[in-house]
Amino acid sequence: MAEVQKKLKVVVSLDLGPEVMPLLYNQPNLDVVVWPHESASGKEWLLKNIAGADGCIIMLFEKIDAEVFDAAGPNLKVVSTMSVGYDHVDLKELAKRGIKLGNTPDILSDSVADSSVMLALMAGRNTKQATNVVEKGEWPGWGWSPYGLCGPQMSPNSPQDIRTVGFIGFGRIAQATLARMIGFGYTRCVYVARSKDPARAKEIEQTIKARHPTLTTVQRVELDQLARESDVLYILAPGGPETYHIVNETFLKQMKKTAVLVNNARGTLVDSDALAKALKEGWLWGAGVDVVEGEPNVTVDHPLVKEPRCVMIPHIGSATWESRIGMGTIAVQNLLAGLAGIPLVAEVQV
Ligand code: DGY
Repeated sequence: MAEVQKKLKVVVSLDLGPEVMPLLYNQPNLDVVVWPHESASGKEWLLKNIAGADGCIIMLFEKIDAEVFDAAGPNLKVVSTMSVGYDHVDLKELAKRGIKLGNTPDILSDSVADSSVMLALMAGRNTKQATNVVEKGEWPGWGWSPYGLCGPQMSPNSPQDIRTVGFIGFGRIAQATLARMIGFGYTRCVYVARSKDPARAKEIEQTIKARHPTLTTVQRVELDQLARESDVLYILAPGGPETYHIVNETFLKQMKKTAVLVNNARGTLVDSDALAKALKEGWLWGAGVDVVEGEPNVTVDHPLVKEPRCVMIPHIGSATWESRIGMGTIAVQNLLAGLAGIPLVAEVQV
């Protein structure tokens, strides 16, 4: 009698939609367990359902730690996160158990770069206050006034007006954002990055300058210089202990009063209280944040929500159909490759 092959159990912590789920459902050897609601499944559901799983697809707001790995048991071969960031996964525990980790880089670089520039423009041009005026029906009374709701212009005002774009983190998303800023007329770029290797910095400088001949400067700098020189500062680096509160009071105090700061990475990189204080006291002009420490528990009392010069959106930096369907597809491909024991499409080296 032919032996019946045991199905592999995979757990998907959020339904990935009609474009992506069939890629899993059409696999005859899989037993797919999926949280069927639009909201987060919660750890309790994950701990219960992951028992005996061979692989899982998880979201960036789920902490994947020893407790989850223990609940899964020894079959777990692959964790696939539908995100480029993976600071929510305990890499030590993962490596200890020889589990593979897949993520979804590249596909979201353009959508996150687009939303980064959007946040810079919104923060610089007082969009929060401006839309409030209209929504509260105050347009007629407020009228048009010569300097009403003015802010710093993002584009340089003349060829002599040399502007600098700064980056914390200088990976694919930052470089896609830089390309957009060059379109606005920026000619100087400064950044801080994890690598301190001068040869690597030289190589980056040469590559970026060859790609964008109008750039006069591409320079890796120290944090203080970055704070002092950036007209627009983009935070696009990974979260985790290495970058925790890299933007704090000391940093913010050094920024230009007309500068705009954008955080489209992880909330933990910015000390929210310090940023709220900085905005209140005018150390910089404005901030646009897609992420905030403690999210999603952000209420209307949050100091940054209350700040008129802070535009906050709820972690939707990559929320385009193109990116999200692409991310879901890569997440499934990573999972299937991990189950098959072949190299993942995008594997995090741990
Ligand atoms: C990610 O994928 O890590 C990003 O936060 C998406 O916006």
